[in-house]
Amino acid sequence: MPDNRDGVNLRAPRVDRRTNDIPELRELAERTFRVAFGDSVSESDLEAQCARTFTDETVASWIDQDLILVAEHRESFKLVGFGQIGWCDYPEIAESQGNRALHRLYVESHFQNQGIGQRLLDALISTDVDATTWLYLDVWEKNAGAIALYRSRGFRVVGRKRFVVDSGAPTDDDLIMRRLRAPLYPIS
Ligand SMILES: CC(C)(COP(=O)(O)OP(=O)(O)OC[C@H]1O[C@@H](n2cnc3c(N)ncnc32)[C@H](O)[C@@H]1OP(=O)(O)O)[C@@H](O)C(=O)NCCC(=O)NCCS
Repeated sequence: MPDNRDGVNLRAPRVDRRTNDIPELRELAERTFRVAFGDSVSESDLEAQCARTFTDETVASWIDQDLILVAEHRESFKLVGFGQIGWCDYPEIAESQGNRALHRLYVESHFQNQGIGQRLLDALISTDVDATTWLYLDVWEKNAGAIALYRSRGFRVVGRKRFVVDSGAPTDDDLIMRRLRAPLYPIS
């Protein structure tokens, strides 16, 4: 998916004889998660969460089961962002099963605000169309930038859930948002 505005190409992650994106995607996912949320939980909760989530095995299972797009820098060929849609199970929202969920959307800090997150989200939405079901996501209630992006793509708040950490320490809520899995711009 070439696009000259922001210096990246979007593509699926590769795991074949020539290229194995798993280690780089794991590092990108962990680094961007730490930057985004490292200050909002305790150090021990952060370490526990990272140790559990960011392993090569886990990332291999994401690639196996989910729809993932990575943003690859056109000159350095480094991965600078990724988005991921997969299974949906929000116990807080009874009818969430059978639908899909945006699991992750992350852009490397010095590549943010250049349109890459929006391109990733738009490409995921356009690839994963089934207008009879919903695409859910949860987002930290204080993450104003991400919430603005999701609203601009038609997501609306339908609930809240507590962000659970290993220690059980009190945390802020996440907002649960959803949009129909319809194309972004209906063809008339
Ligand atoms: C959220 C995130 C993926 C957006 O990616 P990005 O490449 O920086 O965003 P874009 O440049 O594509 O911006 C798209 C839109 O997002 C919104 N937006 C992004 N950052 C914003 C901010 N700080 N304040 C307000 N709106 C913001 C705007 O609506 C913007 O549209 P506009 O440029 O027309 O105003 C990125 O900031 C990120 O990785 N953040 C840390 C991780 C995170 O919070 N992920 C979401 C978890 S649910």
